[in-house]
Amino acid sequence: MPIRNVKMGKNVHYHDENLLNLYGCTIGDNCKIGAFTEIGPCKIGANVNIGAHCFIPEGITIKDNVFIGPGVVFLNDKHPPSYGLWRNERKTNIRKGAVIGGGAVILPGVEIGQDAIIGAGSVIVNSVTSGDLAYGNLVSNAAELKKKEEKYYKLCMGSWNKLRYLEVKVAQLRECLKKGS
Ligand SMILES: CC(C)(COP(=O)(O)OP(=O)(O)OC[C@H]1O[C@@H](n2cnc3c(N)ncnc32)[C@H](O)[C@@H]1OP(=O)(O)O)[C@@H](O)C(=O)NCCC(=O)NCCS
Repeated sequence: MPIRNVKMGKNVHYHDENLLNLYGCTIGDNCKIGAFTEIGPCKIGANVNIGAHCFIPEGITIKDNVFIGPGVVFLNDKHPPSYGLWRNERKTNIRKGAVIGGGAVILPGVEIGQDAIIGAGSVIVNSVTSGDLAYGNLVSNAAELKKKEEKYYKLCMGSWNKLRYLEVKVAQLRECLKKGS
């Protein structure tokens, strides 16, 4: 696996170039790249740590100080095979200092905000705001989860109150019927 047509920064660390497949990309200074990783034509900032077995194809931009765990897969074609039409779609941006846990899958066109954290094994389908924590499958972020919980709680409380109201009404009706008889 070769390194071809790569604009390599200073002090980039990798064990063995035969265990990488890098082509057409720009790699910033002081990056670390683990074995068996493929990086296509995209721009990687400085001080980026890329674990082993990652796939970073064309259309992905990764800013400085990002941490990418092992086995992270970035995708660029949402509805394959689109025969290159994906190039007209939104691109993926990983902002400064973001952390992406091992085995995460990042769907095309999302933005991972500055210093956001993505849990291991997550499937990220929506953008994640700066500083947010997102984990799990098809879950957007922790703040959204909390909102959903609150909505569910309100819904339950609403039904509970209606039930209590009906119980009181039934009791009153029973009382009336008793008096009437
Ligand atoms: C997402 C993460 C940062 C959360 O860490 P944390 O805040 O310490 O979270 P906790 O371990 O307290 O877990 C909180 C809850 O989230 C769940 N959870 C944690 N990480 C999860 C993940 N990646 N996917 C799904 N659920 C996860 C836990 O099961 C727990 O659920 P519960 O409250 O129902 O028991 C961490 O679990 C993670 O995935 N780190 C990435 C590690 C990695 O890939 N490193 C690469 C270098 S080796």
